[in-house]
Amino acid sequence: FTSKSGVKGLVDADITQVPQIFHFPSSTLSNNRPSNLSDLNLTVPTIDLGDIIKDQDNTAARKVVVSKIKDASENWGFFQVMNHGVPLTVLEEIKQGVRRFNEEDPEVKKHYTPLTVTGFNNQKFFYNASFDNHSNPMNWRDTFVCFIAPDPPNPEEIPLACRDAIIEYSKHVMEFGALLFQLLSEALGLDSEMLKKMDCLKGLFIACNYYPPCPEPDLTLGINKHTDNSFLTLLLQDQIGGLQVLYQDYWVDVPPIPGAFVVNIGDFMQLITNDKFPSLAHRVRANTNGPRISVACFFSSSLFPNSTVYGPIKELLTEENPAKYKEITIPEYTAGYLANNFDGKSYLSNYR
Ligand code: SIN
Ligand code: FE2
Repeated sequence: FTSKSGVKGLVDADITQVPQIFHFPSSTLSNNRPSNLSDLNLTVPTIDLGDIIKDQDNTAARKVVVSKIKDASENWGFFQVMNHGVPLTVLEEIKQGVRRFNEEDPEVKKHYTPLTVTGFNNQKFFYNASFDNHSNPMNWRDTFVCFIAPDPPNPEEIPLACRDAIIEYSKHVMEFGALLFQLLSEALGLDSEMLKKMDCLKGLFIACNYYPPCPEPDLTLGINKHTDNSFLTLLLQDQIGGLQVLYQDYWVDVPPIPGAFVVNIGDFMQLITNDKFPSLAHRVRANTNGPRISVACFFSSSLFPNSTVYGPIKELLTEENPAKYKEITIPEYTAGYLANNFDGKSYLSNYR
């Protein structure tokens, strides 16, 4: 039933209880937080890019930013960025577009049902084919996915409700992504263009999530624990909150900051950096408030050529730090990752 009208369909039918198929074991739901955790003051790092956006040639400011990105990427694999240069109107438009499409008549949304389980059949836009919609238990969210690069969609393939918003947003994300990969290259002590030359920017797909208000939020999750199938993920979240990252065995909240992006290291980056930049598990709690809207841009693509293999970057290896991973191709990794069905384990460990 959820594959037809989504979780939103349940909420629109005024259910007061969360159906059994959405129930997670209580051990999974725990925050695993000792009561004295607040003393530890665990906070996801926030990095202000204002000075380098204003003046690209400000080398002193760039050095400071690169060093903060290095610390955050090594210790957390997660950080928030402010004053990133993407206009606030563009962020508002994409959130509105995601809401508009999800709040369309179910008959309209039905046109975008995936043709295959993963929708990778040349279909560039599909709805409710969240990579988790056949997971067990099911997650309290609806998702649509749009593939942007390397092969852009025809505008007609994108529903009108979010067409302009997605096209405009992806342009800005590509541009900002290019800067992020430069800064990450520098943070690794490599040439600025290294990650770009490795085609880390070549693939982009966008997952737009709609988490309806939940009548019993302590029984289920918006999305179960997982790591990302990407080099890097750029996430926009609204003001509702619920995103948590698993840091040293504690679930730490990633609080919404208006106008900020959440940036997180994905599995491929962990692999090519030989564990220097870790891909941390994260999840989203369900909430009585909502809907919550988020837009996740994954630099990654199953549409990558099968011929490009990725392994730890040679320049980062030494005798004391030998390669920890086998080489992979992105399509092969993606297929295994999706089949793994968000069971909470890191799929990357299969390649050690
Ligand atoms: C995800 O990690 O899949 C989504 C994160 C979010 O909605 O905040
Ligand atoms: Fe994620």
